[in-house]
Amino acid sequence: MKKLLFVAATLIAPFAATPAHANDSALLDEARKVATTLPPKLLVALQEEIRKSGAEGAIPVCKDMAPKMAGEISQQTGWKIKRVSLKARNDARAIPDEWEKAALEDFDKRAAAGEAPGKLEKGEKVGNEYRFVKALPVQGLCLSCHGPADQLKPAVQAVLSQHYPNDKATGYSEGQIRGVISVRKGL
Ligand code: HEC
Repeated sequence: MKKLLFVAATLIAPFAATPAHANDSALLDEARKVATTLPPKLLVALQEEIRKSGAEGAIPVCKDMAPKMAGEISQQTGWKIKRVSLKARNDARAIPDEWEKAALEDFDKRAAAGEAPGKLEKGEKVGNEYRFVKALPVQGLCLSCHGPADQLKPAVQAVLSQHYPNDKATGYSEGQIRGVISVRKGL
């Protein structure tokens, strides 16, 4: 009996000590911080590289530098970081799972209904992880590589079709949601 009580107490204690909602809001803050580290850095790198060597020359920023920086932030923080999209360019790493897909669809609906795309985010515990996604809105700068296919520079088209034969990530206009940055951590 004593043993049983002890087991019951250790099961209940962690939940009693930290109210679930307080814990969740700390995780939400942390996840948001991790997710918002990468996009501004990428944006600056893209701007610089486009200015120096044109959109075709800036493709490595999105192709190589983005995943490399995501990997570095993962190592520093312990959060896994991805970028996923309903219309993926890189079908090896940007296909959303069910949870991400549901969030992406919800964000598209809400943006179409007038919500500011830059504010759309979702964070919650899923199984034994905390997961968070934040929408990445299309800005003017993105259009040189994600705009309507027939408006891309031929040099950009050439590089894209060489690396991404299944590219679905064109045809966007400003204000649409290109995808999400998705972060997760085991609890
Ligand atoms: C210079 C060209 C270029 C510009 C400008 C650009 N991208 Fe990309 N984008 C790419 C390439 C190439 C990939 C594929 C990266 C990879 O291989 O993982 C990509 C992938 C992505 C992905 C990952 C999902 C997927 O479809 O593979 C997101 C999200 C994304 N871009 C958002 C943006 C946003 C938002 C902007 C504007 C702020 C932007 N991109 C500007 C070239 C560009």
